[in-house]
Amino acid sequence: MADFSVTPWEASGVIDYDKLIAQFGTKKISPLLKERISRAAGELHPMLARDYFFSHRDMDLIVDSHEKKEGFFLYTGRGPSGQMHIGHLVPLAFTKWLQDKFKCNLYIQITDDEKFLVKQGMQWEDTQKYSHENILDIIAVGFDPKRTFIFKDSEYVRNIYPLMLAIAKKTTLSTAKAVFGFTDSTNIGLSFYPSYQIVPTFFEKKRCLIPSAIDQDPYWRIQRDIAQSLGYFKTAAMHSKFLPPLSGMEGKMSSSVAQGAIWLTDDAKEVKSKINKYAFSGGKSSIEEHRKLGGNPEIDVSYQWMKIFFEPDNKKLQALHDEYKSGKLLSGEMKAALTERINSFLQAHREKREEARETIKEFTHEGALATQMWEKHF
Ligand code: TRP
Repeated sequence: MADFSVTPWEASGVIDYDKLIAQFGTKKISPLLKERISRAAGELHPMLARDYFFSHRDMDLIVDSHEKKEGFFLYTGRGPSGQMHIGHLVPLAFTKWLQDKFKCNLYIQITDDEKFLVKQGMQWEDTQKYSHENILDIIAVGFDPKRTFIFKDSEYVRNIYPLMLAIAKKTTLSTAKAVFGFTDSTNIGLSFYPSYQIVPTFFEKKRCLIPSAIDQDPYWRIQRDIAQSLGYFKTAAMHSKFLPPLSGMEGKMSSSVAQGAIWLTDDAKEVKSKINKYAFSGGKSSIEEHRKLGGNPEIDVSYQWMKIFFEPDNKKLQALHDEYKSGKLLSGEMKAALTERINSFLQAHREKREEARETIKEFTHEGALATQMWEKHF
C-alpha cells in the first residue's frame, strides 16, 4: 500500500509523483516534449523547466495542432470553497503564460455546485460569496479579457444542460465509483457532478488543453473514454505537483490547515510572522552546525517555494541552492528572502484585484453573452 493518497478532494502523505504517474496512467513530460513546447512557445516556463508541471496526457498532440495551425483552447477551474491561497494561484499563473504564448481561448469554471455538494456544512450563500471573491483573484492573474470566459456552474447550467445530460448518459455509476471512490453513502448530487466538470472540454471543436494540479486527472480519464463517441477530441492535460504547505513536504497547501497556508489577503506582517514561525526549515539546529554542515534545500519549504514560483531567475535560484547547501546562507536569511518576494507579489496582486472589480463583466458577461458563446461554438 502506498503511504500517500491523492484524490480530487484531498492529498496526504509524502507524494511520490513517479508512482502517481503509474497509478493514474499519465505520461512524464520528457526532455524532448519540453524542447518541442519551448520551440512552439519561444521559451520554456520555469515551472516546466523545473518539472513542477511534470506529467501530461496528449500534450504532444497539442503541439502538433499548434504546428499545423489548427489551434487549441484552454480550460481550467476553481472550486469556491473559501478564500484563495498562494497554492491556488500557481497553476493559474502557468495557465496565463500558456494563453499569452499561444493566444488561445480560456474557459474557467467556477464550481459552486461541487463545493456545495462535497463540503459538509457548506451553505449555498457561502459558495456564492466565495465565487465572487475568487473570480476577482482569478482575474487579477492577468488573463486576456478578449480570450477568457469565466462562468459559474449554477448560472451557466441552462446553456449546457443537454450536453451535460449526454455525458451523464454515457457514464455509469460503477465507473464513477471506481474512478472517484464514491460509495452508497455518497450523495447523488455528487455522483452527477463529474458530468459538469467534463462539459467545458467540449466547448469548442478543437483540442482542449487543461493545465491543473494532478488531482483533477480522474475527471479527464472519464472524458477520454467518452469524448469520441460524442464527436469530440479526447482532452489533453498538463499536470502540476502541489505547492507544499509551510509545515513541510507532506500533502498540499490546504484551506483546512490555516497555519500551512499563505492567504492572498494576508498582510505583510502576517506573512512575515507565518514564514518565520511555520515554514519548515532544512537548516541545522544551531548556526555553528549550519555553517559547518550546511542545510538541505530539498526539504526546506522556503527554498522550494522559491523554486516553484518566487524565483524565476535560474542563476539566482542556483545561488540560493548552493549557498544554503554550503552553509553560507542561513535559514533565517532564506526565509527573509522569501518573505520579501511574497509580500511584493501580494501587494501587486491586491492592486490588480481592486481593478478587477471594474473589469469583472468583461470576463463573466453576466450570463447574457454566455448564450452567445454557446451558439458560437456549437
Ligand atoms: N474541481 C476543481 C476544484 O475543486 C475545480 C475545477 C473545475 C477544475 N474544472 C476544473 C480544476 C478544471 C482544474 C481544471 O477546485
